[in-house]
Amino acid sequence: MQGVLDIIRKRQSARIPFDSERPVAKEDLRQILEAGRWAPTAHNMQNFQIIIVDDKKVLGAIGRIKFTVSETFVRENYQQLSFSEEELLRKKVGILGTMFPPAWRTPGYKPDKDADSRRPIQTSPVMLIVVYDPNRRAPASEGDFLGIVSLGCIMENMWLMANSLGIGFHVVSAIGTDPVAKEIKSILNIPDHLKIPFAFRLGYPVSPPAKYPRVRRDIEGFTHHNRFGNRYKDVKYLGSDL
Ligand SMILES: Cc1cc2nc3c(=O)[nH]c(=O)nc-3n(C[C@H](O)[C@H](O)[C@H](O)COP(=O)(O)O)c2cc1C
Repeated sequence: MQGVLDIIRKRQSARIPFDSERPVAKEDLRQILEAGRWAPTAHNMQNFQIIIVDDKKVLGAIGRIKFTVSETFVRENYQQLSFSEEELLRKKVGILGTMFPPAWRTPGYKPDKDADSRRPIQTSPVMLIVVYDPNRRAPASEGDFLGIVSLGCIMENMWLMANSLGIGFHVVSAIGTDPVAKEIKSILNIPDHLKIPFAFRLGYPVSPPAKYPRVRRDIEGFTHHNRFGNRYKDVKYLGSDL
């Protein structure tokens, strides 16, 4: 049995093709869904539905949708990128630029066909599309901020479960943005009023995950002690004068 922190640390994005000949077992998918089922949600509203897609024709139709990259994405993506491993290790936040095709990481670059090359959906044995009803909201939660946080809890629970079963998990959030979302809704018969916050591919990677530095800030980089700005340093006991 792996420890919780160990599973959390090993969770990783699988931005690589999955083996189309290696299906995900029904029982494993059930455990992933069970993990999502028990996720905490604001007011226990559980405002989500999940469409499980394993029909090759349907996956093919989703994979053929043209995902165009918006100028806004390219500009804001650029702000999060590092262009060397050293830069990323120093910053401790963001992503390595080389993980994206040139069209996604170069402001002003004319998108070309490689803009579409990172979502090997057709070869994924299964894809899960998460939808929620934006007409409901956690009580008094402006913009349903709490409902959206809840969707994150659902994502993380399923991601941890999948990875702990040795199953690759790749979030494809562009599926939720128009015009892609419109096409997905039409293919999957999703009622128009529902929104797609994210989707993810599940499967067994054809090769080991690409090696890239996985960076996070140190705990001291985001904690404050008793008042904002007062850096938290480890103390022996919390809540005591010792
Ligand atoms: C809400 C959310 C949306 C994400 N969308 C995408 C996505 O569309 N494509 C992708 O490759 N990764 C996506 N990711 C994965 C993050 O980029 C990834 O978790 C982060 O870079 C850290 O890398 P790691 O997952 O390997 O630890 C998303 C993650 C979250 C939490």
